[in-house]
Amino acid sequence: MISKTEQNKLHIQEISNCRGIKKEIFFFIQMEKNNNMIKVCVTGASSYIGSWLVKKLLYKGYVVHATLRNKGDVMKVFPLKSLLGADTRLKLFEADLYNPESFEESIQGCEYVFHVATPMPAPNEISNWDPSKAAVTAVKSIAQSCIKSGTVKRLIYTASVMTTAVVKEDGTGFKDVFDEDCWTPLDCTFPHYDQFTKGYVHSKTLSEKEVLKINETKEGGLEVVALNCALVGGDTVLSYLSDSQIACLSQLTAITPNLYDHLRLLQEMLGSVPLIHIDDVCEAHIFCMEKPSMTGRFLCTSTCPTHLQMGKYMQENYPEFDIEEKFIEGPETGIKCGSTKLIDSGFEYKYDLKKLLDDTVACARRLAFSTK
Ligand SMILES: NC(=O)c1ccc[n+]([C@@H]2O[C@H](COP(=O)([O-])OP(=O)(O)OC[C@H]3O[C@@H](n4cnc5c(N)ncnc54)[C@H](OP(=O)(O)O)[C@@H]3O)[C@@H](O)[C@H]2O)c1
Repeated sequence: MISKTEQNKLHIQEISNCRGIKKEIFFFIQMEKNNNMIKVCVTGASSYIGSWLVKKLLYKGYVVHATLRNKGDVMKVFPLKSLLGADTRLKLFEADLYNPESFEESIQGCEYVFHVATPMPAPNEISNWDPSKAAVTAVKSIAQSCIKSGTVKRLIYTASVMTTAVVKEDGTGFKDVFDEDCWTPLDCTFPHYDQFTKGYVHSKTLSEKEVLKINETKEGGLEVVALNCALVGGDTVLSYLSDSQIACLSQLTAITPNLYDHLRLLQEMLGSVPLIHIDDVCEAHIFCMEKPSMTGRFLCTSTCPTHLQMGKYMQENYPEFDIEEKFIEGPETGIKCGSTKLIDSGFEYKYDLKKLLDDTVACARRLAFSTK
């Protein structure tokens, strides 16, 4: 039998839950009114980052033009169509980076474009994969479509922290910190480079350099922001775990063992494993859009542990996974991100290492560790 005091407590809880929901609905309606006519384009909308970004943009009331390669792919389309606001403000377009003019239609009439898509190899292509030429041609063409549209004010390019390696040019070790002045030398090699990661780093570096050139020429008045994102973890709207979430969890589980090598590669390149929560990374994208004016390169990472620190956290907090000793190794302390450029512009990170790893584990459990 439940006591009177308990009943009162539950009643108060119920009222405040209702108030919470009402507040959420009120916020959603307000945002919808404020941003209703603003159209934005997200390329690679069904990716891990792209889909969470679309969710946040719709929630904030924007009209979203979302691109993906195949509108018939139910696994990719269903999570997007299920988002709050998608029924009236989400429009899907088919576009492929290997046919970059295909993005033009989705960009037409938009004020902001988020270029999130990046070439990914099919399993049989990995052995001699080099996507640089395609990625650079695509980013050039997308920037030209923005300029030609006459409506796009800013292009926000989802860059990677892997283009900001902190290695000294003579290869004798690390600089003290990494920041926006660092560029990964393309002739540099790292013990855990493989054909995929090398192709990825080269294509991200060359595409980022290409798109940032627009800020020098000021062609068509288009502003370009490159957001150099760290390894992303946290929750997902997709029905499977993304590779970056699996990499964050690679010491816990052997589902894709080689993704632990990705943590090692990050540490070889950057002296630590820079991380960022999915919600922070998407808020940062939107922050870069909502600023009255913004150009240039911005590092986006909230925490830089070593893989040893990550492994120890997992071992202490998730003993049930029985982590193998081979995953608890490496330097105690790492190189930090020396940049506060994004924070100095007014951005605030909300998720620390603990919240990021806990949310990633909770998400993996909810999805029963399913992968693509
Ligand atoms: N996740 C991270 O930790 C992380 C960190 C730093 C930067 N980034 C950057 O963030 C972006 C998204 O990463 P993610 O991990 O979220 O991606 P993801 O989940 O692995 O998805 C890859 C995306 O790229 C698209 N894509 C691949 N080949 C394409 C092609 N030929 N034409 C058009 N689209 C193509 C896919 O589109 P389809 O749906 O059509 O297949 C998909 O949307 C990328 O630019 C990546 O470099 C990611």
